[in-house]
This record gives sequence, structure tokens and C-alpha cells, in this order.
Amino acid sequence: MTTANPLLTTPSRPLPKHIAIVGAGTIGPDIGYYLKSALLQTRLTLVDVNQAAIDKALQRCQDYAKKAIARGKVSEQQAAAVTANIASMTGTTDYAQLADCDWVIEAATENLPLKQRIFAQLESILRPDALITSNTSSLPAARIFADLKHKGRATVTHFFAPAWRNPAVEVIAWEKTDPAVVEYLRWLFCATAKVPLVTADAVCFMLDRIFDNWCNEAAMLLSRATAAEIDSVAAEFVHAGPFFVLNLARGNPIITETNTLQAEEEGAHYTPAPIFRSVDTWVTVPPGKSVAVADKTRAAIRDRLLGILFSQSVDILDRDIGQPVDLDLGCRMALGFKKGPLELMRDLGEAETSRILQRLRKERLGLPLPKRPYAEYQNFLRHVLVDDIDGGIKVITLRRPEAMNALHDGLTDEVLAVIRQFESDAAVKGFIITGYGTRAFCAGADIGRFPSMLDDDVAAAQYARDCSRLLVHLDAMQKPVVAALNGMALGGGLELAMRCHGIVALESAWMQLPEITLGIVPGIGAMVVPYRRWPKAAAAFSDMLRRAARLKAAEAHQLGVVDALAKHLPGLMAAAVARVHALAGQPSPIAQGPITLPSLEPVEPTTVDGQLLPQETLRIMEKTIRNAAAAETLDAALEIGYRAFGASALTVAAREGVTAFQEGRKPDFKTANDSLEKRASRSAAASKRSTSNSKGGTP
Ligand code: COA
Repeated sequence: MTTANPLLTTPSRPLPKHIAIVGAGTIGPDIGYYLKSALLQTRLTLVDVNQAAIDKALQRCQDYAKKAIARGKVSEQQAAAVTANIASMTGTTDYAQLADCDWVIEAATENLPLKQRIFAQLESILRPDALITSNTSSLPAARIFADLKHKGRATVTHFFAPAWRNPAVEVIAWEKTDPAVVEYLRWLFCATAKVPLVTADAVCFMLDRIFDNWCNEAAMLLSRATAAEIDSVAAEFVHAGPFFVLNLARGNPIITETNTLQAEEEGAHYTPAPIFRSVDTWVTVPPGKSVAVADKTRAAIRDRLLGILFSQSVDILDRDIGQPVDLDLGCRMALGFKKGPLELMRDLGEAETSRILQRLRKERLGLPLPKRPYAEYQNFLRHVLVDDIDGGIKVITLRRPEAMNALHDGLTDEVLAVIRQFESDAAVKGFIITGYGTRAFCAGADIGRFPSMLDDDVAAAQYARDCSRLLVHLDAMQKPVVAALNGMALGGGLELAMRCHGIVALESAWMQLPEITLGIVPGIGAMVVPYRRWPKAAAAFSDMLRRAARLKAAEAHQLGVVDALAKHLPGLMAAAVARVHALAGQPSPIAQGPITLPSLEPVEPTTVDGQLLPQETLRIMEKTIRNAAAAETLDAALEIGYRAFGASALTVAAREGVTAFQEGRKPDFKTANDSLEKRASRSAAASKRSTSNSKGGTP
């Protein structure tokens, strides 16, 4: 059975014990490093005809491991395991060494006869069921695997640079590939922190159709502007302009090759710009720098760049090459677009999209145009996946892999829309909310949205209210909703779980309210709900709120916050299903009236892990917890929380905390605390003056 969330299926094979990568160029070792870091028990062999290339590749992986440790991205224990595992990676020039491989990934040069020779050689020594995949970015599976005897085990798995870090992988659903193989690869990639995007077996698949034609269009525009001007205009849409990327990837010959392929298959409108053959390096600007561009030229370049994006996107959807949500996600994750093309179309609206496409039609004859009304290209869920399990339970998976499933109002509104769609359907017994992948249920509210709220308490409070529409709905629901914590549940993610009617968790999951370390307070229920729902856990939550302490799933289970624990994902889903059934017909478990709080100890010490805590934020928090407990109704208590979030957004500490997160450094709240002290002493002096003035007896 295919599920939208790949991890809801039971894998049809065990994890591979021995994987080989053929090709020790750049991407081969990068794929190897990813596999070695993710699958600690797997043997990995690099194959190349050139021993020097193998030695260089093995060294490259060792260097990656050293860098990861130096950056502190992994714990000491993990680092030791990964380093030992990288050290056990071997290289060979002898294909016979691969006889017991469960999976061979070909990452050789983009040359059809060469690839076909490699696959013939592989097939002669591998088991008939061993997986064979190619990392080609453009050659269809139907061509490269045409001569294989056992085609069902073969397909394309297309990685993106840098393959050790870039999560996107296209998995091609070629008609001859056994669907169970595609499902298994989706599962395997998702279980190892990649984001598999299934696409049809078209030339250049999904994402390179976008990228190659984007670059080709940029080159076609060179008759109107320079490379630097075109990159400067493109910077509105991408982190690095097309010519800059082409220089980086030495990509000119690749575009010539892949666009020739597209032109041969689909028409002359894809013919590569001739200039690619005569230029080696483009004179352009790096990301963050730009040159001035005349308004008229800018408008023309902008229209054409958008035009090609829209043309390729509607074509991909009309021909079912990929899913709309994967198209946008892939463009952001794999190609460095700031927004996906369908998001851009949505933001510009129907009339402007149509104008841009009409211009493209006139200037670039033959390129694909929409075949359906505009609205049909926009009709899809962007942030969640929905599955049906156990004959009537809807699993809603939060899926924002670029931000560890962080919440924003768009995501929470989608969850709400799915719930509303099914909650009065008698066939639906309840809902499970979980997170995509294996690391995070949800890493909290999307911090990327915070900077715009920093000086605006009204907007910040309203944002908290907007994100809470889903949570308030959960409070009033009759059908059970269970949170299945597949990894960390932080900040707003934990606040969402708190409002579900039950919580089950993997033993490895943990919870945290890190807001205090950002100089803000958690605005959507964490200062309110735990005290009303789990009085026994009040001390633990106070510690979480005020010192960002972590609560492990097992501790939360002992405190009654988590209803059941599971060792692995299938167990987690089974526990969630059992909880949905057990909760049928039970109302929201959150106390509605005022409550008595246990006494809150002053926060000692005032630092956590050597980091100073922001005193003003702590004061806002203490006051809010007290006032919310005394509120007559849950709704009134929640409103106090939204406003407190607004108030915290005005503080010096919030600016420092949010800026530090975005700059990837630890915040320093000393200035914030000092300014608070100065304000306090100024107001003490002022009140002393006014007291002495009044004592002096003004006339
Ligand atoms: N909002 C927006 N983006 C988030 C996010 C959030 N709450 N949490 C994580 N991300 C993004 C990161 O910015 C990063 O994006 P990038 O690759 O474009 O830089 C990506 O997710 C991966 O996170 P990263 O920090 O590189 O991974 P890590 O393993 O080193 O750390 C966390 C993981 C969750 C511990 C860390 O990201 C974190 O502290 N996040 C903030 C959690 C938080 O404070 N939540 C409450 C918000 S009110």
C-alpha cells in the first residue's frame, strides 16, 4: 500500500548490509558520506577504475567527518560512531567485490554507453534482486536500463549537490520498476533524513527540467543584458543566480547536453543557447551583490525568468511528472529557490501569471503553456500529508523538512482544514498528528516569521491567535486527536501536542520549551495548559518554561503527560491508533475554570548552560502564568498568553534572541538585562524625586 508519509509503510526489505557506489568523482563520495553517517551498520564500497580517485574520495569523507565534529553538529558519542564508520569505508577497482551487495548506486559520468556497460557488468555479478540505481540527472531509466535482464530492481535515484547534506532525492517511478522497489526506496530515504520526491521517467525528470531551462532561458536573455544583470534580477527568486551557479558547477556543457536531449524528445523550443558552447566562465556577481539594471530591462528579464518557471511547472503537472507540493519543495530544497514556482504563481495571482505566460508565448514560441484553469494548479496541500490507516483513522503528517516541521499559520490552518473536512464523517474515527521524518515531530513556531513582529506587540499577539485557530478547535472537538511524537517536540510543536486529546511518543523523543532562550515567551498555551491539564507535572513544566529544561519521553510518561511509549515507528502508530480508540467519546481533558498554582520557586540560577537568561522575559512569563491560572475560563487564560507573547516581542531580549538564532550563534542577553536594570534604576530615581518633591510640599 502506498502512503503519502513513506514511514507509515512496512518496508518490504531489511536495511541494506552492503552498498556500493560506482564512481568516485564528486557526488559518489558525497552520497557515500551520507549513507555512512545514516546507516552505521552498513558496509560501503566505493568503486572506480582509478585508484587515485578512490583514495581522494575516501580522504574527502574523512575530512567531512572531522568538519562535522569541529562544528559540534553531533554529540561526542555520535561523532565517534560516525568517524569509525567512515574509516571502515573501502574502495576497490574490482567489481567482483560487489557480489554480496544489496544495493549498488551508479554515479559515473553522464554517458549512456558507459552507464550501460557498468550495468551489464553489475548484473553479471549481483543477485537478481539486488537494487541497482543510477544517479543520472537527465537520462531516462528506460534508456539506461534497456538491456537489463532484471529490470524490476532498477531505477534512478537522483541526488542533489552537496549530496551529503541536501535532503532532496528524486526517485523515478519507471514503468518497469517494481512498485515495491520505489516504495522501499522512499521509505529508506525518509528513514535516513532525506526527502524522497517521486517523479515520472521523463527526460531530466522534474527538478532538472526546471533548473536546466531556467539556466537556458538566462542564456537566451544575454542578447538583452549581461550575465551580472541577469543574476542581479534573478536574486529576487533564488539564493544564487543562474550564471553564478553555472560557474560553480562548471555546468555549461551539461546544459548543452541536457537541453539537446529535451529538444530531441520534445521540440526545438528546448534547443540550448549556442553561447554555452563558446563560454567557459561567466562574468557575474556573487550572491548578496548586484549591479544596477535599467527598469525596462529588469522587467523584461523578470518576466521571462518567471515565464520559464511557470511554463515548466504547468507542464510538469499536466504531464504528471511530479506532485505540485514536491515541485515547490524540491525547488526550494534542491535548487535554492526562495519560493517554489507554484507559490510564486499564487502570490502574483491569476491575471499577472497569465500576462507573464502570454509574453513568453510571444517571445519564445512552442514552450508549454497551461492546459487547465489557474486554480487547478493551486489546489493542493502544501504543508501536510494525509493518510488513512486502520480503516478510519486519518494520519496528518506535518511536513516542512526545511524547518524541522516548524509551525506557522499556513500549516496550522491546513491541519485544521483537514480535520474540518473529515470530523463529521461517520467513517472517520479520529486523527493522529505526527511529524515527517525521524528527527522532529515539530521544532516549534517558525522563527523565520518572528523578525517582522519584533516591534509590534499587536501583530505578534494576533499571530499567536491565528496559529491558535487549530488549537482552539481541538479543545472543542468530539472526535479524538492523538499526537504521535516521532522525535523532538519543541515550543509551538509541544503546545500543539498539549492540545491533542492524547499523546504517545517514541522512547527517544523529547520535549522542550526553548522560547526563553530566544528572549520570548511561548504564546499558544504553554503558560496555561500544562497547569490545567497535568497539575502533577507543574514543577517539570515550570522548569521547562523558565530554564528551557528538556523533558524526555519516559519522564513525561511517568508524569502522565505521555500516555504510551513505543520503541520504533510501527509501535508508535499502533499506540496512537489504540489511544484514538480508547479516547472515543471523551471530551477535552483541559480544566476550564480558574486553578490554584503550586508555589513557583524563583529562577535560580539565572543562567542555563552558561547562557544568561533574559530577566524581562522571565518577569512577563511569571506574571502570565499567575494571571492565566486565575482566569475564569480557558479562553480568557489563552488570551492572556497571546498578549504576553506580544509583550515579549517588544523586548530588547527578543530582538537579540531571534537575531542570534538567525545568525546561527548563541544569544547574549547581557545588554537586555543591563538595559532593564538601567530602566529600573531610572524609574526608582524618578519615583524618589517625585516622593521628595511631594514631601517638600509644592504650593
Ligand atoms: N523555525 C524555523 N526554522 C527552524 C526551526 C524553527 N523553529 N527549527 C529549526 N529550523 C531550521 C533551521 O534554521 C535549519 O535551517 P537551515 O538548514 O536553512 O539553516 C534547519 O531547520 C535545521 O536545523 P539546524 O539548527 O541546522 O539543526 P540542528 O540539528 O543543529 O538543531 C534544533 C536542531 C531543533 C535543536 C535547532 O534547529 C533549534 O534550536 N531550533 C529552534 C527551536 C526553537 O527554539 N523552537 C521554538 C520556537 S518559538
